[in-house]
Amino acid sequence: MRTTTVPNLGRDISLVGLGTWQLGGDWATVGDETAQQVLDAAADAGTRLFDTADVYGDGRSETAIGRFLAARDDRADFTVLTKMGRRADPHIPEAYTLDSFRRWTDRSRENLGVDTLDLVQLHCPPTPVYADARVYDDLRTLQQEGRIARWGVSVETVDEALTALEQPDLATIQIIVNIFRRKPLERVLPEARDKGVGVIARLPLASGLLSGKYDEHTTFAPEDHRTWNRDGKAMNIGETFSGIPFEVGVAAAREVAALTPEGWTTAQMALGWLAQEGVATMIPGASKPAQARSNAAAADFPELSDATMAALADIYDRYCREHVHHVF
Ligand SMILES: NC(=O)c1ccc[n+]([C@@H]2O[C@H](COP(=O)([O-])OP(=O)(O)OC[C@H]3O[C@@H](n4cnc5c(N)ncnc54)[C@H](OP(=O)(O)O)[C@@H]3O)[C@@H](O)[C@H]2O)c1
Repeated sequence: MRTTTVPNLGRDISLVGLGTWQLGGDWATVGDETAQQVLDAAADAGTRLFDTADVYGDGRSETAIGRFLAARDDRADFTVLTKMGRRADPHIPEAYTLDSFRRWTDRSRENLGVDTLDLVQLHCPPTPVYADARVYDDLRTLQQEGRIARWGVSVETVDEALTALEQPDLATIQIIVNIFRRKPLERVLPEARDKGVGVIARLPLASGLLSGKYDEHTTFAPEDHRTWNRDGKAMNIGETFSGIPFEVGVAAAREVAALTPEGWTTAQMALGWLAQEGVATMIPGASKPAQARSNAAAADFPELSDATMAALADIYDRYCREHVHHVF
């Protein structure tokens, strides 16, 4: 597995990680044993980075990772990124207090079975939180207390990322960036690189669209967010299909698939594209061991030609730009 160095994180990380929202079982029917198999498959294929959150399955995803790590002699080689904030009810800026941070991180430490969390990310808080100096001081207090090693942010928009980038010790920014979401390439990636901050690409497959396997007739299970959040009523619309209307995404993905080099899958090309654009890591979600294996193998994807890169940019301009560029 190729690794990348993130100066502000203080460690090298796998270029391809694993997103574990699915393993919480909130919307994908993944049982405890399958969850272990997915984690094992990712690890066997070389992945040493997992992304989770305290709310995924109300702690079930973190607990699954804790169980996985407890069975490994090489657990020190793994980097686990978790998130906090979404347990707040109501989810308002005032909920982001040092007391809450301590409670939330203590619960995550227990779920993961570690003394110190490798990294905690603010989990897409309300926008004003990113500009609140007190919140960052509280994160530094958690570091001094040994609860966390480093901290980062997960964001919905480029503007939120640029606000967080004003903090000199920010370690990582998690943002939606993929072939259907190019705006972070303009300023977030270059500024993050200059400042030693790692960009974590979430939804690298645009919720699966970029595998090229869906068509206009594809349906998803009733409990799947790709059924119940298409209109963005339950959570930010960008988290489902990257904010692209499904039928538009299917048509665009068909053109992306036509560019796939022989011997590779379209999903692997989508991940290879992200590596070429310079993200620190990417966290494709997988509900099956085979998906985790195939995604990890994309770390060896060959460079795409200039012509293919230009063709992918053109697909974005024709199908996606109008839906996402001015929104996120
Ligand atoms: N606010 C936040 O911070 C936030 C929000 C959302 C997600 N995340 C993180 O980002 C991670 C990734 O997000 P995501 O899972 O929603 O989006 P994603 O990685 O873009 O898409 C995952 C979906 O792609 C399909 N897939 C995965 N590997 C495949 C392969 N090799 N071949 C074919 N299809 C494949 C699967 O769909 P099928 O199920 O149809 O097979 C899977 O459910 C999450 O697990 C979570 O860790 C963070």
